[in-house]
Amino acid sequence: MDNQEQLAELVSKAIADFSAATLPAELEDAKAKYLGKDGSLTALLKGLGRLQPDERKTVGAQINRAKETVELALVTRREALRDAQLEAQLTAEALDVTLPGRGRMRGGLHPVSMSLERIEALFRSIGFEVADGPEIETDWHNFTALNTPDNHPARSMHDTFYLHDTDGKIQQDVLLRTHTSPVQIRAMLAHVERYKHLPALPELRILCPGRVYRVDSDATHSPMFHQAEGLWVGEHVSFADLKGVVTDFLHNFFESDDLKVRFRPSFFPFTEPSAEIDVAFMSGALEGRWLEIAGCGMMHPNVLRCGGFDPEKYTGFAFGMGPDRLTMLRYGVNDLRLFFESDLRFLKQFH
Ligand code: FA5
Ligand code: MG
Repeated sequence: MDNQEQLAELVSKAIADFSAATLPAELEDAKAKYLGKDGSLTALLKGLGRLQPDERKTVGAQINRAKETVELALVTRREALRDAQLEAQLTAEALDVTLPGRGRMRGGLHPVSMSLERIEALFRSIGFEVADGPEIETDWHNFTALNTPDNHPARSMHDTFYLHDTDGKIQQDVLLRTHTSPVQIRAMLAHVERYKHLPALPELRILCPGRVYRVDSDATHSPMFHQAEGLWVGEHVSFADLKGVVTDFLHNFFESDDLKVRFRPSFFPFTEPSAEIDVAFMSGALEGRWLEIAGCGMMHPNVLRCGGFDPEKYTGFAFGMGPDRLTMLRYGVNDLRLFFESDLRFLKQFH
């Protein structure tokens, strides 16, 4: 075999090796066999130095041509492998654009939040301002100022969560508010402070929705629940106003004139006379059954005094209703704890 034939064989072996390589790493190994530092074409080029100058020229040109052919084959195969890899990747990651989109669930307001918004809007429409108060409250605001001094038996009507110090000792004077009624005191004091320069205080009408806490749990009681406190203080506010405002509100809230509402005589230390308000379920398994939705009454003179109002001149009514219970009635839900379990299967039904 002469030089030319040897070279041609080397070139075809290289091309065959390159096409046999199916991975880029295999191709680079094959390249090293021919074009690497110890590759066969490299060795031939190194051997040129031993030839005569005239022979060196022809043989050198032959080897260089062979090398170019091999290099071209290498580059071509490299591109082919890269294309194949890209193709495989595209197929693997292919998107079926004809698939219908996966719908994202739309969030929505919690049913109790919807009730709170409804209550606020209805009371705003008759001139009530929405007020706010702290959930961690002093014993004075929550009880004492509401005509419920220490050791008053009415304190046991509320099972109170107290806070402890870091050393575990219970702080008797700080608690989680058991009702929104302490806001009555805060609102009155702020009102008197704001208008003390006037000869007579303007009417005070507030609504305070918020969370309250009691050691309590069954189908109609949750340890955390909501109340909306209403308050109207002025020079001629009467029980008839209380009845009218609350009854009218309830008819609007439930969008029903046939709603069954009753005022049942009751007792609260901070109102005299006092009543509890019941509404009958209009639908669901409990249809016809009464559910207590609020406590109310005419503000006790001691409470007006603690709020800075002269009870000889001003009267007022107050109520504290349970928006969670209103929501149960509105949708015919018979266990209030369902509202606070965060089970989406339940909550989604309200949207
Ligand atoms: C009070 O809390 C009084 N502060 C209401 C009041 C305000 C009376 C102003 C007079 C003047 P009572 O404990 O009854 O009262 O609670 C009021 C309403 O909150 C109840 O009618 C009920 O609708 C709701 N409620 C009470 N406890 C719970 C509970 N554990 N879970 C859910 N709702 C409750
Ligand atoms: Mg009650």
